Amino acid sequence: MVEFDFSGIDYANLDLMSRKDEVLNSFNNSYMTGWTRRIDQSLVDDIISVRDKVINNSKCLVVVGIGGSFLGSYAVSKALAPYFNDEKFKVIYAGTSLSSDYMTELLDYLRNVDFSLNVISKSGTTMEPTIAYTLIRELMEEKYSDDELKERLIFTTDPVKGSLREEANSCGYKTFPIPDDIGGRYSIMTAAHLFPLSFNIDISKFIEGYYSGNKYIDSAYNYAVCRKHLFDLGKYVENFVVYEEKLSYFSEWLKQLFGESEGKNNVGIFPTSTVYTRDLHSLGQFIQEGNKIIFETIIKVNEASKIKFKDYDLHNINNIVLDSVRVAHNKGDVHSLMITLPCINEYSLGEVMYFFMLSAAFSGFLFSINPFDQPGVEVYKKEVRENIVI
Ligand code: PA5
Repeated sequence: MVEFDFSGIDYANLDLMSRKDEVLNSFNNSYMTGWTRRIDQSLVDDIISVRDKVINNSKCLVVVGIGGSFLGSYAVSKALAPYFNDEKFKVIYAGTSLSSDYMTELLDYLRNVDFSLNVISKSGTTMEPTIAYTLIRELMEEKYSDDELKERLIFTTDPVKGSLREEANSCGYKTFPIPDDIGGRYSIMTAAHLFPLSFNIDISKFIEGYYSGNKYIDSAYNYAVCRKHLFDLGKYVENFVVYEEKLSYFSEWLKQLFGESEGKNNVGIFPTSTVYTRDLHSLGQFIQEGNKIIFETIIKVNEASKIKFKDYDLHNINNIVLDSVRVAHNKGDVHSLMITLPCINEYSLGEVMYFFMLSAAFSGFLFSINPFDQPGVEVYKKEVRENIVI
């Protein structure tokens, strides 16, 4: 079970609590909540069978996507991967930047390796993945015949429209759908993330955990209320705190989820993140004594590997420090909310992701904005399209 500690805020008696029915109604009447619907087992089976084919003919899968088509699977795979491993099969991500160094080194690496390519873009028009796909595709055409390309190219995109869908239809490439009623940052339970994840984790446990997160509807609303209350008190920045380096990309996922869902119409809480104890030696000073616009959401982990330091268990030291820092920051008028995972595994990550997605959506309605669109991102994408023809 995930545990929630919102102590220090008398949320049950806040006026925001009286908006619960209105917020839940808005949520239930939203079209973009396809991520609450159970994924078809036939799609999960298809993901596993395509994964097995790829493992048979490739040494590596290149995953191209950005934003909501990237962060979820990257966050979960980082959280669950051993820190040190000599993996036989590699999953490599691309299309998340325009770095020519990264692309040059990637292409050099891929020249001597058999690989498959999964291009993920709901719209099919986003610049970074389009450029990455085009460059990797050129290399694939040098290495592979048209028939081999059909075995090695997998597109994850809108079920009906968009340029990737059209290309897949005309060339006969394998596709997975991102349903129309699921937006990028809410798409963790689609093939956009489950397919890349299927190479490294047991996706059935992740899926099971995710749907069990539905039992946290009340906690998700309470968390949204606490955040909004802190915002109303002038706490405009939420610092997501983790004490496990493995969870650093989980915070990146959270930043996108809350930032894109909430930051519009001149409102919203600015999400940022730190990895403690590392960042206590860099940003800790500011957080303790600087501008009082910050509150923290701590993601604690109950159980981790056992290793002794003198008479202590090292993980206990980590959690004792967590509790002590919490008290210290509280003394500095930096309030914290805490969410505790029993351990880092597929099930608990699935559960807590569903909780956070519910809460981000509820928060949007508490701020009286639409949590499911991203008009600001579209403005930048349009501006770029006017200046670069790709
Ligand atoms: O959450 C979102 O909707 C965005 O971050 C998108 O996922 C991101 O811009 C990538 O879009 P697309 O999947 O259409 O390439």
